[in-house]
Amino acid sequence: MKGYKMPEGFLWGGATAANQCEGAWQEGGRGLANVDLIPYGKGRFPVMAGKMRMLECDSEHLYPSHEAIDMYHHYKEDIRLFAEMGFKCYRLSIAWTRIFPNGDEKEPNEAGLKFYDDLFDECHKYGIEPLVTLVHFDAPVGLIKKFGSWKNREMVNCFERYARTVLTRYKDKVKYWLTFNEINMLLHLPFMGAGILFEEGEDEDTVKYTAAHHELLASALAVKIAHEVNPKMKVGCMLAAGQFYPYSCRPEDMWASVCDDRKNYFFIDVQSRGEYPCYAKKELERKGIKIPLLAGDEKILKEGTVDFISFSYYSSRVSAHPDTPADRTTGNAIIIGIKNPHLKASDWGWLIDPQGLRITMNVLYDRYQKPLFIVENGLGTNDKVESDGSVIDDDRVAYMSAHILEMEKAVVEDGIPLMGYTMWGPIDIVSASTGEMKKRYGFIRVNKDDQGGGDLSRSKKKSFEWYKEVIASNGENL
Ligand code: BG6
Repeated sequence: MKGYKMPEGFLWGGATAANQCEGAWQEGGRGLANVDLIPYGKGRFPVMAGKMRMLECDSEHLYPSHEAIDMYHHYKEDIRLFAEMGFKCYRLSIAWTRIFPNGDEKEPNEAGLKFYDDLFDECHKYGIEPLVTLVHFDAPVGLIKKFGSWKNREMVNCFERYARTVLTRYKDKVKYWLTFNEINMLLHLPFMGAGILFEEGEDEDTVKYTAAHHELLASALAVKIAHEVNPKMKVGCMLAAGQFYPYSCRPEDMWASVCDDRKNYFFIDVQSRGEYPCYAKKELERKGIKIPLLAGDEKILKEGTVDFISFSYYSSRVSAHPDTPADRTTGNAIIIGIKNPHLKASDWGWLIDPQGLRITMNVLYDRYQKPLFIVENGLGTNDKVESDGSVIDDDRVAYMSAHILEMEKAVVEDGIPLMGYTMWGPIDIVSASTGEMKKRYGFIRVNKDDQGGGDLSRSKKKSFEWYKEVIASNGENL
């Protein structure tokens, strides 16, 4: 397929998260994090949602993060393969508990810092720019036990120490940073997204928005620190994006879509504009939620606005007024949604809507007027391995080329400044929502199954050569 050339310096690449790829959960002095306690199979959703308490591992469950794909020991091989595809950028996250194992130590863990030093050096060896997420769903269990995680303001101080430590240490190695991955996930999966467990009698909405306020403060502080440490650093927010379409042109459906979009934009409205939007203030008032806003907080939010807007895009979504008859059976495993009769869905029920990416980009840019960065997009599929070991993943190529073309139209035809595109999971990693290995996104196959079997060997899928050509042609050959 013929695409458009992207501007010079466009950051093509891929993205991963520490807990989904590193493994080595107890090596190098790493401490326990919420993400290590989320089991595979039964119990996964109640734990992620903060409804089932699991603050220790037990022997009945399998915990996918413990080994993941063992990138901790394979990173040189993996980065070499990324380089072979021509990556300009690799998005990864730092595991907070490698740096502060319990979260509140006075001094950081040198072994953890050294691991990322080596990893960044490996990227630079091939001219790959790291893009680093400070928090990709992880919270130290030490802080969950001590403070109840982001419910408590103490968490902001601990995060600030962590952020200052890594921003300072890597000031000459990492230019691009993200504060919180899919910050809006806190509303849907509070334990996975923010280490939150609900106690008897607590008002869940109050807990969630209190935690959100603390994360927003933490995010703003990280932006400020980054700019002080190295004025060349660029820091972004990160949203699980995907435009809500009204189910019909009924005004009630349109209004439902506006309200659904706002639930997501709320976070990045604050991170990008530096203040709570009027609709959020009114909604909190209506719900009787008092945000713990202390003197000085508004100043922190105002001074810590992000440089760019990053987001993940997997699909668009649909909104309808509760009275509208609509099929409410689709969506991903996290958010049950309304079926869009015009779109097909993936094997995991995620709607496939390439044009929705262009729409989402336009809406985001109109709203914020800041450069965008697509930091996740891709297709999770059940790959078939042929008898000779190859994987002919034409469905992945079809999904991705269609999405990249719409992205390119947004840049070339609509004029949107876009910093880069790091697709999700260039190498197969553990699925965040299901804990499965069989839900694969990669151009590189990892020999591992859902039960933990497999020798972890890496091999190239058919899509590997395709993406290499996309990057080599700077987006022209899709
Ligand atoms: C995003 C997350 O929600 O989507 C990733 O930032 C996640 O961590 C990705 O892996 C894809 O979701 P899943 O559930 O298919 O792994």
